[in-house]
Amino acid sequence: MDGQAFGHDAPFYLPQGDECDIFAAAHASHLPLLLKGPTGCGKTRFVAHMAARIGRPLHTVACHDDLSAADLIGRYLLKGGETVWVDGPLTRAVREGAICYLDEVVEARKDVAVVLHPLTDDRRILPIDRTGEELHAGPGFMLVASYNPGYQNILKTLKPSTRQRFLSVDLGFPAPAHEVPVVMRESGIDESRATLLVRIAGKLRALKGQDLEEGVSTRLVVYAAVLIAGGMGFDRAVRIAMIEPLTDDPEIRAGLLDLVAALAG
Ligand SMILES: Nc1ncnc2c1ncn2[C@@H]1O[C@H](COP(=O)(O)OP(=O)(O)OP(=O)(O)O)[C@@H](O)[C@H]1O
Ligand SMILES: [Mg+2]
Repeated sequence: MDGQAFGHDAPFYLPQGDECDIFAAAHASHLPLLLKGPTGCGKTRFVAHMAARIGRPLHTVACHDDLSAADLIGRYLLKGGETVWVDGPLTRAVREGAICYLDEVVEARKDVAVVLHPLTDDRRILPIDRTGEELHAGPGFMLVASYNPGYQNILKTLKPSTRQRFLSVDLGFPAPAHEVPVVMRESGIDESRATLLVRIAGKLRALKGQDLEEGVSTRLVVYAAVLIAGGMGFDRAVRIAMIEPLTDDPEIRAGLLDLVAALAG
């Protein structure tokens, strides 16, 4: 498996396509990268894998609707009666020439975009107004952002002026031929049960938009497989890892359980 081949420290990641080459090329060319894809499709794992392969430290920021520019850049804090400047994760990444991963970047407050713009075009600078510094990002620095287009709503979407500063890669749900080895490797279960779990996942994903808001993620398929590897019965593991997390509606749940029973035979 490809993911294993790179260094001892790189977490396992099985590429879906040419995303590893794209990431490496983006890093080498000093260009930022946007990863699009549903929850649990491997975005975070991919970034961790590539950071290890490229050999740069990784600073991950989980963006939320209260995340401000100051949270990324840093702030003055009181320490032992003195006011000291403390770098935020973005500033630290720029100083270190690290990879900064902004997870679910659309969630962040609007002032974050203002900070990202000069850093994601050819200037590659981070002005820190509070300290009067202007940092120039070195060759090691890279900004990676992710977002899940499925959660997008009218209020939360990336402005074209932000979006068009990033190269973009779409990581959708993996094809079965790709997901089966991921599930086997992550859990240790055999191929026949992994194949059945992935087949069930495929059927559940086909219901997205009808009964389900979001298809079952690879993460949940791995959870089911891990439970099975730990000795739990197949049906029970599927129910608690792959059905219950998808819906609170008892009727839909019953329908999904019937579907699984038919597939698992
Ligand atoms: N290509 C892959 N190679 C190896 N493991 C994978 C791959 N895709 C998914 N996984 C597995 O799925 C799990 C979830 O992936 P990850 O946490 O990277 O998802 P994500 O896209 O970051 O999700 P979210 O948007 O919810 O943060 C991983 O812990 C791993 O077990
Ligand atoms: Mg993630």
